[in-house]
Amino acid sequence: MQKRIFLRSTALAALSLVAALAHADNNTFKIGLILPMTGPFASTGKQIEAAARLYMAQNGDTVAGKKVELIVKDDTSAPDVTKRIAQELVVNDKVNVLAGFGLTPLALATAPIATQSKTPLVVMAAATSSITQASPYIVRTSFTLPQAAVGIADWAPKNGIKKVVTLVSDYGPGIDAEKYFKDRFLFNGGQVIETLRVPMRNPDFAPFLQKVRDLKPDAMFVFVPSGAGAALMKQFAERGMDKAGIKLIGTGDVTDDDILNSMGDVALGVVTSHHYSASHNSPLNKKFVEAFQKANNGLRPNFMAVGGYDGMRVIYEAAKATKGGSGDALLEAMKGQIFESPRGPMFIDAQTRDVVHNIYIRKVEKVGGQLYNQEFDTIKDVKDPGKNK
Ligand code: DHB
Repeated sequence: MQKRIFLRSTALAALSLVAALAHADNNTFKIGLILPMTGPFASTGKQIEAAARLYMAQNGDTVAGKKVELIVKDDTSAPDVTKRIAQELVVNDKVNVLAGFGLTPLALATAPIATQSKTPLVVMAAATSSITQASPYIVRTSFTLPQAAVGIADWAPKNGIKKVVTLVSDYGPGIDAEKYFKDRFLFNGGQVIETLRVPMRNPDFAPFLQKVRDLKPDAMFVFVPSGAGAALMKQFAERGMDKAGIKLIGTGDVTDDDILNSMGDVALGVVTSHHYSASHNSPLNKKFVEAFQKANNGLRPNFMAVGGYDGMRVIYEAAKATKGGSGDALLEAMKGQIFESPRGPMFIDAQTRDVVHNIYIRKVEKVGGQLYNQEFDTIKDVKDPGKNK
């Protein structure tokens, strides 16, 4: 009798403990935000964290009656660290959603965790086309390199650029940029006379730039990850490439708003294609840039910040629609979202879980004494061309 009562009470205690835990979980909606906060890609982490915090400041820290908890972790841009942190966030913290992912290898390393645990994973930065195919739980709010690269491949041959050398970082997004630029540029009657790939980490551009100089193309097409553009631009100028009549074109990663102003006049006139410029002319973007700068000591938001801000929007709206849900329900509520972003109109394609948005052709110009990517042409509603292969 005693034993039975004891058993019953311990069972009850265990149950109420489970209920208490479930209750605690029911009252919070947890977002695990994994970013490179230190090391060579720390600017990506800083921009995305700042944007996520701004979104929360503007939209409140409760959804569907639950408190939103943002757990920010530094993965130092090492894929094994990203994966381990994701595992801990899922198992120990029981996060509703994983988010962030500053580089392609970090997103790819973590994809199996999303699949195994059925946890939606929102890619806010990484931009290799294939990432969304690495797990059915991945949704992307950044962009893809094929989307960005075809815009400039259409613009260049109509503007006197017939012979190009490509120079890209030697990993996923660079290889995508090279391939999709080259295919479209050739289709448009252009010629790619050399394709050069530089190491992703700590690249020494000098020998590559020398080679480009010797080849004398009309232009050099460039992809380097966010943050690396300043060093490239500096060496481009030091070698007198611009004076030798070689134009610089690329995806907008090279004239990243985070560092554009520090590049100086050598950046003037550089034409790129991309989905976001801090000078995008819309009331919503003006409000976004102003609020971001106010909250971050004047820091200018770049395309990484916008990927983070829009990622939070997608998460918040899915959380609202599912009353703070998780797993498949939360994922489904992310698909098909359509809204106005600071970048312009934006849509999460339900089939591919990838972003559809405008790509703008922009030229670096001085506005009020500051350098900006001034948008002058728009290619509307661009789907990732990488998804048709
Ligand atoms: C990736 C990283 C970047 O900094 C960028 O500008 C584009 C793509 C990436 O690793 O996917």
